Amino acid sequence: MAQTQWWQRGIFYQVYPRSFQDTNDDGIGDLDGIRARLDYLVALGIDAVWISPIFPSPMADFGYDVADYCGIDPMFGDLEAFDRLIEEAHARRLKIVLDFVPNHTSDQHSWFAESRASRENPRRDWYIWRDPAPDGGPPNNWMSNFGGPAWTYDPASGQYYYHAFLNQQPDLNWRNPQVRAAMHDVLRFWMARGVDGFRVDVIWHLMKDADFRDNPPNPEYGPGDPDIRRFLQTRSTDQPDVHAIIAELRGVIDEYEDRVLIGEIYLPIDRLVTYYGENLEGAHLPFNFQLIHASWSAPRLAELIADYDAAVPEGGWPNWVLGNHDQPRIASRIGARRARVAAMLLLTLRGTPTMYYGDEIGMENVPIATEDAHDPWEKNEPGLGLGRDPERTPMQWDASPNAGFTNGRPWLPLAADFTTRNVAVQLEQPASLLGLYRELIALRRDHPVLHAGTYRKITALGDVLVFLRESAEECVLVALNLAGTAQDDIPLPPGTYGRVLLSTESDRPRQERVEGHLSLRPNEGVIVSLDARG
Ligand code: NOJ
Repeated sequence: MAQTQWWQRGIFYQVYPRSFQDTNDDGIGDLDGIRARLDYLVALGIDAVWISPIFPSPMADFGYDVADYCGIDPMFGDLEAFDRLIEEAHARRLKIVLDFVPNHTSDQHSWFAESRASRENPRRDWYIWRDPAPDGGPPNNWMSNFGGPAWTYDPASGQYYYHAFLNQQPDLNWRNPQVRAAMHDVLRFWMARGVDGFRVDVIWHLMKDADFRDNPPNPEYGPGDPDIRRFLQTRSTDQPDVHAIIAELRGVIDEYEDRVLIGEIYLPIDRLVTYYGENLEGAHLPFNFQLIHASWSAPRLAELIADYDAAVPEGGWPNWVLGNHDQPRIASRIGARRARVAAMLLLTLRGTPTMYYGDEIGMENVPIATEDAHDPWEKNEPGLGLGRDPERTPMQWDASPNAGFTNGRPWLPLAADFTTRNVAVQLEQPASLLGLYRELIALRRDHPVLHAGTYRKITALGDVLVFLRESAEECVLVALNLAGTAQDDIPLPPGTYGRVLLSTESDRPRQERVEGHLSLRPNEGVIVSLDARG
């Protein structure tokens, strides 16, 4: 097997810092809290922690509105706390990846204050300003991702500014070389402090149509859809010239050794894979969200895995994501039983897995009424089920008050079941989801074929997905029963027999020998090491 990099072998774990661990009793997680939990992450077996934004911010979008790219919001700590975190993470061989939010700043960023000060200000062109349409309205039909038009009028200068998200999140003008240079320096600032890479927020948004032409209507837009679905985002995002911008970012990343560039991209597979760059000079890992949107059936999963695997360019490295802070939790999407099978899928597919904090204990969406919502999307477009608070609730560490997350009042409510669903309880139960995650991660580490072998689909028999991971040294078969009924006749490849390495059902004996056919219980997944029958 070819030599692999840490971000190819390893497993990423996303921490939403507000909700991971509070240490100063303000009900909001912080950097010292993450540091206090590093040993948990080491024991879990993950390799890299991606931390959602921790920079000074008015928190209109909970940190995705950055007011200073080179500082730490006091809510989370300070630069010394950050340096301690890096040092202690690295001492444990954990990598730290930061969230880089280059598409927009906060409207409270000093750059924007200067930009809006007057049309003549040297920073005017750092943002996207346009004259009103002839009728005085917005310059074009682009919509904000959080509802309403993406243009806000500034009466003082008589122009509109563009914001793909909140009006408190003005988009930077990436066509301006000064903006690019300033943002490159931000990357250098953090890499010099030891940061191992970046997850780049909405990287496919960075360039917009140079002529700001209207987006075409979306024929599938219908009642109950958010505003952003009214039009296809073909002019406002995913422009051909974005790739040169990303190649420049990658150039900066490559000035430092062993760093990773991950891009957040919600696009169909054929568009997504262009973000590797024509000559692999783009993102190392364009985030692949196929599993988030997939309907959970074996034929559908088999198809999308095959399509994705085939589309990743030669030399590009695949990756898989089950959940994040913008999406309903996996356990709520597919149910607790199938979440076990999903864990096995995530950790046996070809490509780097990214986990979302709390998914390893099966945390579910916590219902939050619209009137209690914090998320601006829910507030702007209430009642459509768009709010993202439910998947951002505090980590459930133990059965003590507030689940060991805080001694204060948690900024979001805890799940009702935290006294029974928590890390402490599950660490005591090998059969728990956490126990399964730990075993899967250990298995992935001990069997290089699982992180570096090829992928070969065998079949999607009924609702059983069967695939092989193969290398010169080893061949492993993964069979996942996605149905609530037992499946008794899953054939092994001719001429082979198998030994069960791990099942999602903890009472299945390890090393159980299987020949001819494999039987699976309802919602059972197994990993089987195959050998030639001799
Ligand atoms: C994507 C982030 O994941 C999301 O949380 C945020 O609201 C938008 N980008 C805007 O930055």
